[in-house]
Amino acid sequence: MKVVIEIFACLLAIITTVNAGGPTLVLLDNLAIKETHSIFFKILQDSGYNLSFKLADDANLLLSKYGEYLYNHLIIFAPTVEEFGGAMSVDAITDFIDGGGNVLVAASTYSGDALRDLASECGFEIDEEGASVIDHMNYDKTDTGYHTKIVADPTNLIDAPVIVGSKNIPPLLYHGTGLIADLENPLVLKLLTGSSSSYSYIPERPVKEYPHAVGKNTLLIAALQARNNARVLFSGSLYFFSDEAFTSPVKKAGDDKKHDKSGNKDVAEAMVRWVFKENGVIRVSFVHHHKEKESQPPAAYTIMDDVVYSINVEKLSGDNWVPFIVDDLQLEFVRIDPFIRTTMKHIANGRYEARFKIPDVYGVYQFKVDYTRIGLTHLYNTTQVSVRPLEHTQYERFIPSAYPYYVSAFSMMGGVFLFSIVYLHYKEDTKAKAD
Ligand SMILES: *[C@@H]1O[C@H](CO)[C@@H](O)[C@H](O)[C@H]1NC(C)=O
Ligand SMILES: *[C@@H]1O[C@H](CO)[C@@H](O)[C@H](O)[C@H]1NC(C)=O
Repeated sequence: MKVVIEIFACLLAIITTVNAGGPTLVLLDNLAIKETHSIFFKILQDSGYNLSFKLADDANLLLSKYGEYLYNHLIIFAPTVEEFGGAMSVDAITDFIDGGGNVLVAASTYSGDALRDLASECGFEIDEEGASVIDHMNYDKTDTGYHTKIVADPTNLIDAPVIVGSKNIPPLLYHGTGLIADLENPLVLKLLTGSSSSYSYIPERPVKEYPHAVGKNTLLIAALQARNNARVLFSGSLYFFSDEAFTSPVKKAGDDKKHDKSGNKDVAEAMVRWVFKENGVIRVSFVHHHKEKESQPPAAYTIMDDVVYSINVEKLSGDNWVPFIVDDLQLEFVRIDPFIRTTMKHIANGRYEARFKIPDVYGVYQFKVDYTRIGLTHLYNTTQVSVRPLEHTQYERFIPSAYPYYVSAFSMMGGVFLFSIVYLHYKEDTKAKAD
């Protein structure tokens, strides 16, 4: 019996660890990257990711088989690849993203066409070949050349702990190209930007043209959360994830303060957990609505009804769904335009509730919860209900504003009655006089 329970527990453990981790394809320029980035890969393997290392131009690359994806996640640490091998292509990768797959890409100063095409599909642009992010004010002391090994201040990280973790960390080391974001793409997140003195240009050349990216517009790391909640992260630097960057001391030139270790490992770990959907995943688990003092939803609401709407929201934590608690979840009651927009109250255990009076307008409405926050998956849930006008029996018999009409009707009747009496009398009178 004990053995059976143990086997069952084992099976349960295997089933429940499916969420985090999962099969992951890692594409490399050369197998040396496996060694130079071993700490990063170790973190992933320890968290349950099954990494399959392949060369990016391997002729047997395969992302899907019989319409099913073989991997949940894709890491591309192959900056210089010009064309992917086998069945892999930029189109295959965008299909993979459309299918909900997550992708982590690292470029470098010399990035191949494959990555450039992929970047532009995702709403970024990699700066031209040979361009590096340069910062003459914030570079590491060991960089005596072109000041391309820059020291990025953690305050330049995006304000979203769910993606980048704590900002209270040592400075970050970065060596690579600059990214440019498509300003019209609202789904692009600027995870790490350069400082105001940074720019992206070819270091060996005198600056003759205006650089493509200057100051805070120089993107170092950018991400995209697609409308299907698939996540893509683009780093302009492969070095950022390397063992060297993870373990190097940081000393900014012209600054006395020395840090024994860069903050790269913390940020890289937080970012990879976000991009592979361990963090910031929320869902609706339960929706209910009914009239006040009732418990079941009616076939149709009547105008001016008092209604109670409740929704349960959960977030993924490790392998479990736990209550998601915030104070800014809103409900809209929409008929083309929102008629009511109200902040819901958290009752308990991730259950939110809103109470309101349906407006005096009938039609087909939706209860709509549309919650979009940086770093969280898009929460969207609608429930359609109809709202009908009052039935004829539901109106009041006598309403005060109609009293003038009642009075006028009865006064008219009275008037006619009196008039006919007077009229008849008058005639008789004249006859009597004539006699
Ligand atoms: C990891 O993936 C490979 C190839 O997809 C598979 O053969 C292997 O069994 C997997 N290992 C684990 C521990 O899931
Ligand atoms: C809203 O959430 C409920 C409960 O999870 C689900 O049954 C329903 O399909 C969702 N509606 C939409 C439009 O997603």
